[in-house]
Amino acid sequence: MQLDKSIRSRRSIRKYLDKKVSFSDITEICDAARFAPMACNKFSVRLIVVSNKEKIKKIAEISQQPFIADGKYIIVVCTDKKDLVKSFGDNGTRNARQQAGAAIEHMLLKITDLGLSACWVGWFDDNALKRLLKIPKNIDVEALFPIGYAAEKPKKLFKTDLKSILFFDEWDKKERK
Ligand SMILES: Cc1cc2nc3c(=O)[nH]c(=O)nc-3n(C[C@H](O)[C@H](O)[C@H](O)COP(=O)(O)O)c2cc1C
Repeated sequence: MQLDKSIRSRRSIRKYLDKKVSFSDITEICDAARFAPMACNKFSVRLIVVSNKEKIKKIAEISQQPFIADGKYIIVVCTDKKDLVKSFGDNGTRNARQQAGAAIEHMLLKITDLGLSACWVGWFDDNALKRLLKIPKNIDVEALFPIGYAAEKPKKLFKTDLKSILFFDEWDKKERK
């Protein structure tokens, strides 16, 4: 699939077919994260691939979002920001979050490219998730996403128009000289 097609067709899918997802696809998806830009090339993102059905069910409960239980895999995106904070102080914390976002988007585009679907999930009980997956205290959980084959066609969604988000040379200046 062409990049532009992946960008434009990626959607959040919350219903999945009961169809096996190949583990090599999951590996490719995780591999896409490696190529995201990272400040000073300090790679802060860590990924937990969850395939255990019981754990997937528990993650859906912890997130209070039942659709998650139908994902064939869940990728939990974590950050180890130690090196970034050591180098950049408070900026390191900001970089760490942005780096997780960059890695997540790489993975979502790869998922789309492979004909699979996912939904970025940012609402969950951090502590309960950490307990379930034995994530250490110093590691931040950024997001998670279930992966599967789509069992729904998403409704058309209004995507903000370029004009309303674009300024030239200064805040709120909408005309380009
Ligand atoms: C930071 C972030 C957190 C999100 N958290 C959730 C979530 O907890 N549950 C959910 O169903 N969707 C979640 N979404 C998905 C958005 O609802 C979705 O991207 C938005 O409605 C636009 O739809 P689209 O992804 O199909 O373009 C999240 C998206 C982002 C970027």
